[in-house]
Amino acid sequence: MLQCTCTQAGIATAEKEPLCTQPDEIGLVPIEEDPLIGETPQGTLQSWLTPNPLFYVRNHYSFPTPEETASWKLVIDGNVSNQLELSLDDFRQYPKQTLPITMECAGNNRSDLQPRVPGNPFQNGAISTAIWGGVPLYEILAKVGIKSGSIEVLFEGMDGGEPVPGVAKEQYLRSLTLDMANNPNVLLAYEMNGEPLSLEHGYPLRLVVPGWYGMASVKWLKRISLITVKHRSFFQGERYFIEEDDGTETPVEDIQVKSLISWPQDGGALVQQSHNVSGLAWSGSGHINRVQVSSDGGDTWEDAKLVGPRYEFAWQQWNYSWTPASEGHYTIVARAEDEQGNLQPMETRWNKFGYVINGVKPVCVNVS
Ligand code: MTE
Repeated sequence: MLQCTCTQAGIATAEKEPLCTQPDEIGLVPIEEDPLIGETPQGTLQSWLTPNPLFYVRNHYSFPTPEETASWKLVIDGNVSNQLELSLDDFRQYPKQTLPITMECAGNNRSDLQPRVPGNPFQNGAISTAIWGGVPLYEILAKVGIKSGSIEVLFEGMDGGEPVPGVAKEQYLRSLTLDMANNPNVLLAYEMNGEPLSLEHGYPLRLVVPGWYGMASVKWLKRISLITVKHRSFFQGERYFIEEDDGTETPVEDIQVKSLISWPQDGGALVQQSHNVSGLAWSGSGHINRVQVSSDGGDTWEDAKLVGPRYEFAWQQWNYSWTPASEGHYTIVARAEDEQGNLQPMETRWNKFGYVINGVKPVCVNVS
């Protein structure tokens, strides 16, 4: 059984309609100024869609200036017979595909890990959902005449620098296998919730890889290259992997099944009456099939109700009507299960960079 202790006996804020898209907050929770890093505030984590100004931001380098993006064109080259250079207008000529996608940073919830690890101390909020609009990548790849021998597609951002102090400068680079790049859901996005991408989210064009942690979704794309050898760079080789006990490295890719409790908040003080415990659940391996809630730290579980929109790559809202049996201290936890049968674990597997933190997160409340 998990047990938490109430550190702050705050009065829990009023319960909100779980589909709420009108958050109270006005800005991101700041983590770093340059490069800009900020997480989505707790109250906004009730909304299915995240308003653009409150969508978390995770940058490894300073982002390009408006001047640098003014004459932007995307180059597609490498092992191809028909190299292309496309402007934003060229992309707009294609039929637009829109897809709701939840993006989670691999380091979301890093601050929960014990013992602590270096890296951005994200709490719950390095995760957000938007309806992305753009052109499926495979449609563009179909135009370049991919030559035989190509095994990966390499994506290069306009941003670069020393990935960590003392390491040689490089651009932000990530690759996908040719198979994954041809997945019809992988988008070259120029819109977010119906608006042009903002500079911090990758204007003019970014990659969006649904179901994968956010590091794969390269922003400020300047070049896409077909390559014949496996790519390795700092952010794909030196980071974004988990070291297994036998010394092998597993790359961080698919989002692992997880849930969060939006309400009540940790440390809340509740009166003894019926309450609507609510939250969100997601997985990179398909729809969420079940969310269970426990008010005794995981000893007994009840099914929550899945509510709201249901999409393959976007999180699922849920709620659970709970009437505490008596006054006292309660440890509420939720766990999700996806359509592949993956069950959110009670504990996160500790790893030195603090990735894939998907163990259940207790919320403790006092009922009086
Ligand atoms: N793309 C570039 N060019 N540079 C970056 O630093 N950060 C990645 C990814 N794409 C990054 C990038 C990481 S780690 C994440 S989690 C997502 O962008 C965050 O996207 P967002 O800032 O739009 O939320």
